[in-house]
Amino acid sequence: MSANLVSKSKVFQFKYENNICIIDMNDESKGVNSFTLEMLADIDENMPKILANDKLEGIIIKSSKHNCFAAGADISIFKTFTDKAAGERGSKELHRITNYFANAKVPTVAAIHGTCLGGGLELALACHYRICTAHASTQLGLPEVQLGILPGGGGTQRLPRLVGIAQALDLILTGKKVDGKKALKMGLIDELVPENQLFEKALALCKKKKGSIRRLPSSLGIVSSMQGSFDMQKIALEGNPFGRAVISKQSRAMVMKSTKGRYPAPLKALEAVMRGVELPLEKGLDVEAKLFSELVISEESRSLVHIFNIMTAAKKNPYPKAVQEKAKNLYMDPLNQGDATVGVLGAGLMGSGISTVLAEKNIRTAMIDKDANGLQRGLKSVSSYFEERFKRRRIKWFERDSQIYRVSPSMSFSTLKTSPIVIEAVFEDVKIKHDVLKKCENAIQNENFIFATNTSSLPIHQIAAAAKKPQNVVGMHFFSPVPKMPLVEIITTDKTSQEAASAIFDLASKMGKQIIVVNDGPGFYTTRILAFQIAEALNILAEGGKIEDIDNAMEKFGMPVGPITLLDEVGIDVGEHIIQVLFDAFSERLKVPNEIENIAKEDRKGRKNNKGFYCYVDNKKDKPDSTIYKHFNIDRSNFDHKEIADRCVYVFLNEAARCLDEKIIKSEDEGDLGAIFGLGFPPFLGGPFHYAKVLGKKNVKEKLNELALKHGKRFEPAAYWDF
Ligand code: NAI
Repeated sequence: MSANLVSKSKVFQFKYENNICIIDMNDESKGVNSFTLEMLADIDENMPKILANDKLEGIIIKSSKHNCFAAGADISIFKTFTDKAAGERGSKELHRITNYFANAKVPTVAAIHGTCLGGGLELALACHYRICTAHASTQLGLPEVQLGILPGGGGTQRLPRLVGIAQALDLILTGKKVDGKKALKMGLIDELVPENQLFEKALALCKKKKGSIRRLPSSLGIVSSMQGSFDMQKIALEGNPFGRAVISKQSRAMVMKSTKGRYPAPLKALEAVMRGVELPLEKGLDVEAKLFSELVISEESRSLVHIFNIMTAAKKNPYPKAVQEKAKNLYMDPLNQGDATVGVLGAGLMGSGISTVLAEKNIRTAMIDKDANGLQRGLKSVSSYFEERFKRRRIKWFERDSQIYRVSPSMSFSTLKTSPIVIEAVFEDVKIKHDVLKKCENAIQNENFIFATNTSSLPIHQIAAAAKKPQNVVGMHFFSPVPKMPLVEIITTDKTSQEAASAIFDLASKMGKQIIVVNDGPGFYTTRILAFQIAEALNILAEGGKIEDIDNAMEKFGMPVGPITLLDEVGIDVGEHIIQVLFDAFSERLKVPNEIENIAKEDRKGRKNNKGFYCYVDNKKDKPDSTIYKHFNIDRSNFDHKEIADRCVYVFLNEAARCLDEKIIKSEDEGDLGAIFGLGFPPFLGGPFHYAKVLGKKNVKEKLNELALKHGKRFEPAAYWDF
């Protein structure tokens, strides 16, 4: 009966059981099922044959992949949308293909286990019924806005008709995922079942619904009564035009607050939902296709897709398989099996943050500090993090307790006896770093232990110079706050062994971090380019620019905070020290105003002691502190925001390019990842290298030449701009 059904993509298997057609997806070439054009062509070719079978009593679509139903469209599909017309055609094709399931005369059921995202969920939404497993890997969502587009396969139309407008917007505008339990509660699925019963329950549902298929309403009026489980107030709100206008206004305000209007996708998605629910479904789908086509060719979407691609590529451990295997045996296995602890030296801001993330990822940690109060503070910070997660119901009480329990505080290095890896986060002073390295060498039995330093600016080879085994010294640069900031910059010297670097790569992966692996040098990559930008902001300040103008100009450019605010956040003492290290290395071109040293000497540490470039009231940033200006013998004037942004951005682009010229970073992609995930470079611009290409390398060079004439050598174009 299934002989005439053929999967050219080799992803689908078709079989019949009691007249029910079972379509099974499993793309063996990938870890996930993601829809390619070939897969869509397979559905298109086979569905008419399946539906033409007059004995057919139902269709079940499922996956036999481990923990994945379907993760959405394969990102390569986007390349085929070269213009708006192609984008609109593409979306309409998806509508046509998913409609096979929606318009079938027999019940169609999506049996979901594992990730069900984007196009995967849109296919499931087109089915008459969805059941899913209660397994932790089962996550449903429409993350398209995170790629700068909207769900173009019917998601903006079918989801609100199924679960109501407010709940649909909550998923569509944020890209948020929900688990099976939440999906059931919101009416997104019909049944939540144990993993081993998924198939039999899907069969039973198909049989049960034969002859009484529930279909989505065409217009919204009926929506809220459908699933029966909604709160009456919400039903009343969504059921009338005034209520819908309120929801639309509130959602728009929420989007503008979180995106500052820089990302068009959530606003267009909102428009698609709000316009679509007033129309018959088919017309709503047309609105969706039109708006999708506008987004899919936007620069923002291209940037976000670029980021997605480079993030995916950077997840792979770059070292040879044999090296990875050896490193795993030596270092990761004892940690994963719970036989050993990672040592964390320093229980300050960074050490406690690092210990928190290790504990969260089930790795036992010995947190060492020389100071009892410091240790106490560090432990408190670890506990508060898990306490907060418990209060927000993200973890259960026993998870909270076991995670906190994984961090053992100590003042003695002997606790590290069995540690295969130590992460150092003591004061930024090479002598202290050498001292703790020696103490580790004396205390740790495994002479091949790795010493990973979290220095933010000291060259790693300087720290390794005191090591018995410099091949086991590597930089592991985290960003503050550690649990929130996604990047780890791994820094290798010419002596670092591949095994050590590979083990640190695996550890950072296990900690859920995005990773770049760079070569050693003053400030490595991220600290170096940031220091040039902050120094430029200080130069503008020294030339009479106002604090708020500098910060506003850079926020307008898209940075999460301006460079002066950032200096207050990092600590003026810390920032000044780092800039000094960088100045020593690049004094021929890095210009730093002398006044910054005097400002730091005034015991202005920024937010830490509520005394910085800004005033602080009740621990909150207030107005700029005008007493700062007395350090500069110049009247304040209004600097043009564009001029400020040009100087701070171009110096940053140029220094990033120099890092590539000098092979500190190995690729443009690595440079983009580091700037976005470590420094908050605006994702909608795709990273400094992606952005420079959009501007045109030739144009960037011209602008740099112009700035160099006015402001000096730091703007002289790097060789990179010539190629
Ligand atoms: P912190 O001052 O908050 O903590 C340092 C901790 O190290 C203190 O608790 C101190 O008692 C302890 N300590 C000092 N000497 C010690 C010794 N000999 N033995 C044991 N413990 C000792 O400093 P923070 O901010 O955590 O920075 C630590 C390291 O991380 C520095 O190298 C810094 O450059 C680097 N870093 C800092 C970032 C930040 O945003 N604060 C970002 C990235 C790196």
